[in-house]
Amino acid sequence: MGESAAGAAATADIAVERLSRAEAEAELARLAAEIARHDRLYNVEDAPEIGDAAYDRLWRRNADIEARFPDLLRADSPSRRVGAAPADAFAKVTHSRPMLSLGNAFDADEVREFEARVRRFLGLGESAPVVIVGEPKIDGLSAAARYESGRFVLGATRGDGQVGEDITANLRTVRDLPLRLEGDDVPEVLEVRGEVYMTRPDFLALNEAREEAGEPLFANPRNAGAGSLRQLDSRITASRRLHFFAYAWGETSEPFAGSYWEVLMRLQRWGFRVNPLARRCAGAGEALALYEEIAARRAELDYDIDGVVYKLDRLDWQERLGFVSRSPRWAVAHKFPAEQAETRLTAIEIQVGRTGALTPVARLEPVTVGGVVVSNATLHNEDEIARKDVRIGDTVVVQRAGDVIPQIVAVVKHRRRKGARRYRFPDHCPACDSHAVREEGEAVRRCTGGLVCPAQAVERLRHFVGRDAFDIEGLGEKQIAAFWRDGLIKEPADIFTLARRNAAFDPPIEERDGWGEKSAENLFKAIDERRSIALERFIYALGIRHIGQTTARLLAKTYVSLVPFARDMQRAKDRDSEEYRALENIDGIGPKVAATIVDFFDEPHNIAVVADLGEQVAVEDFVGPPSASPVAGKTVVFTGTLATMTRPEAKARAEALGAKVAGSVSRKTDYVVVGADAGSKAAKARDLGVATLSEDEWLALVEGA
Ligand code: IVH
Repeated sequence: MGESAAGAAATADIAVERLSRAEAEAELARLAAEIARHDRLYNVEDAPEIGDAAYDRLWRRNADIEARFPDLLRADSPSRRVGAAPADAFAKVTHSRPMLSLGNAFDADEVREFEARVRRFLGLGESAPVVIVGEPKIDGLSAAARYESGRFVLGATRGDGQVGEDITANLRTVRDLPLRLEGDDVPEVLEVRGEVYMTRPDFLALNEAREEAGEPLFANPRNAGAGSLRQLDSRITASRRLHFFAYAWGETSEPFAGSYWEVLMRLQRWGFRVNPLARRCAGAGEALALYEEIAARRAELDYDIDGVVYKLDRLDWQERLGFVSRSPRWAVAHKFPAEQAETRLTAIEIQVGRTGALTPVARLEPVTVGGVVVSNATLHNEDEIARKDVRIGDTVVVQRAGDVIPQIVAVVKHRRRKGARRYRFPDHCPACDSHAVREEGEAVRRCTGGLVCPAQAVERLRHFVGRDAFDIEGLGEKQIAAFWRDGLIKEPADIFTLARRNAAFDPPIEERDGWGEKSAENLFKAIDERRSIALERFIYALGIRHIGQTTARLLAKTYVSLVPFARDMQRAKDRDSEEYRALENIDGIGPKVAATIVDFFDEPHNIAVVADLGEQVAVEDFVGPPSASPVAGKTVVFTGTLATMTRPEAKARAEALGAKVAGSVSRKTDYVVVGADAGSKAAKARDLGVATLSEDEWLALVEGA
């Protein structure tokens, strides 16, 4: 604390409201240093001096003072650790020195060869000591943190090694990373590099929360860490509690050590975390012993490692050795072998995901793989089962390789029992017995049951009430799941009859767990507020596969009203129909998307869902932004055969541009578009003096609108 100690005594006890501006400034400086010190004691030295409550009080005091004097916010304020408002995109950062990767060694011989190579290159004798520092290879993401005058100023991802992305706001939220360096020997410019990672417990908790929220799961802590670090909204990064181990440096304004070991000691003194398992070894022999030791302790670490990195200790030797392509000659990564074991596969179970995907899961006789008992493994999809020819009763090789979910690597064919039959993947959903189909080019088979499939219903309903769909406040996943389980809501329309049916429920909503008079009343009000909805939201809310917000809007723009939309989609099931061609011809809708919409409307229970909803809510016609469309508000009649578009398409496009399309010509008609072999309508237009346009003229008129 040093310099601020005197000021500290003067300001620490003054209530926030009574601080003068100068005192507030001093107090913010004191708090930044004090909180940084506690962060360091807790994160780096594992020796906290104060409890959570006292720590929180420091934070709160800091926040309160900043609220009173917003312009005194410091660059190294702890409050910045909680993240900033989202950015639009990451800026590029060119690394002043490239961020390299490492060559691999897969066994002890290759490690000995590493040492021998170094000796040869440097012309060292057989007995000259070669000190190697060994440390775990963290399975995370490398990042660079730049400090100027001891202050954190820039954070970057590795990117392609030359150019990374500016993740300053995100790295600031990583508590292990000091915002201000301690000590009077910190170089003016110092770029520290290391690994950002997520702990296994944090990863499991994150996935659990995502599962509950219906969000896709991360495969492993590494992916979760990557997803968290590359967030445009750094507040999300902050909530993910990432960690950092320092193990390298980039640009520095002056050399600061003679050996790598010394580098690690310095980094630690300045406030960085370095890996506690790092050790100096006299040559490859000791390095290999360290490897065994680290491998044995792998399971007890709370983060994933995938090997041990050996680095030559002497920096002058590192300098002389230099690089081959993108890896240093003075370092090598000794990778752990993937962990494998053999066991018997007792069953293949098909799980139905919330999106209807059928996923095969292997049930195994429990076996220990790398210190963890495994009794399930993923089989990915039906092609995978066929490719590996996995059969029930087979002995299989199971592997854990970073991923939490173990994989089946291969079948031990010679141990297959006689009469074992090839596995047949079901073509019906095990949850609802609807057809399960594979789209062309897709590996996944999906249940077509949609809202009738219990595995998907809750997810569909959750999507339906979600923010971008019906946006019903107070009706989240938890409530939906409970209402669905107890039979209060089976399909979307049921949401809108909840209030009417409530008295008959046993118990009524206000008496259910987590509900009261007020919240039930608010829910009914929120539902009532959504009895009228824009067509594009309505289409999106249906949760049709491949129909995101953009496509929903495109459809709404094209068909304008629900009735023609639903009617045309039903007619479009005949792939030779004009309606189908019109659908497929919409710019932005390909055959795959067209097929899923048509399939949706080909399913009677889906039509029933839409019809039932239609009785409860008013779907508003599409209103585009007030456009400069030259035909907005005009009445148009098409006649004759058009060359470049079908009639329904011409109609849809004209309507999308705000025109009214009429079937017959009158004085109110603004334009008659005349195709080939036009008959009486064209003649009538001329009689009435209504403007006639050729197809080309019409296209020119609406072009670009
Ligand atoms: S040193 C020039 N040390 O492994 C040396 N890398 O395969 C640069 N990694 O991109 C790397 N733990 O992301 C080093 N203790 C460690 C490491 C480590 C993990 C990662 C790093 C690098 C990759 C190279």
